[in-house]
Amino acid sequence: MSNNGSINYFAETNSAEVVCERMAGARDARLAEIMRSIISHLHAVVKEVEPTYEEWEKAIGFLTATGQMCDDKRQEWILLSDVLGVSMLVDAINTRRPSGATENTVLGPFHVDGAPIRDMGETISDDGKGEPLYVSGRVVDGDGSPVAGAVIDTWQASFDGFYDNQQPDVQPEHNLRGVFRTGEDGRYSYRAVKPCYYGIPKDGPVGALLDGLGRDNMRPAHLHYIVSAPGYETVTTHIFVKGDPYLEDDAVFGVKQSLIAEFEQHFDPARAAELGVANPFWTVEHDFVLTRQGG
Ligand code: BEZ
Ligand code: FE
Repeated sequence: MSNNGSINYFAETNSAEVVCERMAGARDARLAEIMRSIISHLHAVVKEVEPTYEEWEKAIGFLTATGQMCDDKRQEWILLSDVLGVSMLVDAINTRRPSGATENTVLGPFHVDGAPIRDMGETISDDGKGEPLYVSGRVVDGDGSPVAGAVIDTWQASFDGFYDNQQPDVQPEHNLRGVFRTGEDGRYSYRAVKPCYYGIPKDGPVGALLDGLGRDNMRPAHLHYIVSAPGYETVTTHIFVKGDPYLEDDAVFGVKQSLIAEFEQHFDPARAAELGVANPFWTVEHDFVLTRQGG
């Protein structure tokens, strides 16, 4: 019913209002609030775009194909959210931190639970393929004091841009994955290989969308981390390789200036022997700055 008691039948002019009125008796207030916003914006989009029947069918077909592409290994809906910048926006809203704290970025679909627990200094490269990389740094709090007992869960793509779970017949399971725990000094170090830029999956509807929009599917080279410690906010983040050609063109908008680090190449047999890597090799040093929970 409208304010003057007459029935508010659906029309082009009042479409969103009529639909939202039906939620007056919602049992879940937050659900109704979210749906009111979605319905208002959605109707505004339809009014602006004025789709033909064919275009609307195409949209429904795209959403259907996106759902049908999902299984226990592939999440096309998250990929869609990633390429539309929505994953990074939700992340930004939920991880507002003091300046100087390590910033979050996208988790991505390739993390697995149960990666091997490794000792500091150990390698995460089980197949030994790629250019050696020595990664080190500290986990500290906002005052720069070491965080002991921090768990660093890392994973990365291979030298040619694939995760182990994308290539089960090529890479050993858990290749380039590891979980490390800091000691009293908050320091961490491990051996890996220099990561390479790579393309996110484009064999599904999201790939077709990117293609239609003339967009690249590339991600700049990076190392993934989830860093956690009791009493601190968990950080899901990357270290990006400075100078990578795709830093300004990341398909999922994950790059932040503070996460770009210098990867230095060394030709130094003595230092290589000291670090347990082949010569020549790369190094990168990066600190993770955690924020106290509720701080
Ligand atoms: C990744 O970095 O692993 C990733 C992130 C978002 C979409 C696809 C891959
Ligand atoms: Fe990645």
